[in-house]
Amino acid sequence: MADHPKAFVTGFPIRHSRSPLIHGHWLKEHGLEGSYEAIEIAPEGFADFINSLQRNGYAGGNITIPHKEMAFALCNKRDTAAEDIGAVNTLWFEDGALWGGNTDAYGFLANLDALSPGWDSRKTALVLGAGGASRAVVYALKQRGFDEIRIVNRTLERAQELADRFGPAVSAHAWRAIPELLQDATFIVNTTSLGMEGKDDLTVDLSTANREALVTDIVYVPLETPLLKAARKRRLKTVDGLGMLLHQAVPGFEHWFGVRPEVTPELRALILTDMNKSAASGQSK
Ligand code: ATR
Repeated sequence: MADHPKAFVTGFPIRHSRSPLIHGHWLKEHGLEGSYEAIEIAPEGFADFINSLQRNGYAGGNITIPHKEMAFALCNKRDTAAEDIGAVNTLWFEDGALWGGNTDAYGFLANLDALSPGWDSRKTALVLGAGGASRAVVYALKQRGFDEIRIVNRTLERAQELADRFGPAVSAHAWRAIPELLQDATFIVNTTSLGMEGKDDLTVDLSTANREALVTDIVYVPLETPLLKAARKRRLKTVDGLGMLLHQAVPGFEHWFGVRPEVTPELRALILTDMNKSAASGQSK
């Protein structure tokens, strides 16, 4: 092992990741000696990278797109969230074994708990999208006892796969069913990449939306996505997605550096400043 704990985030590409900024902030805040670096690894080199972590002195790290499923396959043990979601975003060593966890669902819930306490008294959800991010969100909503989780997706079969995976509380619907589904949905979440800077807008007509609906988005660049803007205009409650990024980082930091850090307004401001800097220099993320 290295003198000081070393951790990483890897993806392909990885240069836009804000995780080094988040963990760097916490290391400094707690006066800890340690490091957290972004390492770009192409898919063909990923298995070698993971298999040499301990030899290279890493305490663990974060895994992002497109490696989360490969990380799932490569670790020795997995926590329940990772098992149920089928993807790993956090690795750490424990008793000599490489553990894989998934903290995306935790981050999603912790953000809503922090910004809209009691949000989960709602029990009917409309989930837009059926990709990897959707799996974590559906898992999270199930954990909080949502009894109707309706997934709409451009490709209906992918939504159906999720419904089959997560059981009777979860159902699959075609994109065109949105206006009708909006009438009952008291919780609406976008898990697609639509609305992200550089991608197509997410255009959902919220005119039939339930007035009690809380609307959230896992996209956080821009902070106010087209969906959140439309919701605000209709005076619906909204929660932005930046906190999911911040909160999902907490368990990893605790595993590697031994202190459970907090998501503070200072941390949020630090990341927002960086986002504004990137926007000013024309970077998309
Ligand atoms: P992630 O792991 O980030 O969720 P993903 O697995 O590629 O990424 O999933 C992306 C999601 O965004 C999917 O629900 C995708 O819909 P399809 O399953 O039909 O591909 C959705 N998505 C991406 N681009 C879209 C578009 N232009 N219109 C509608 N949905 C789109």
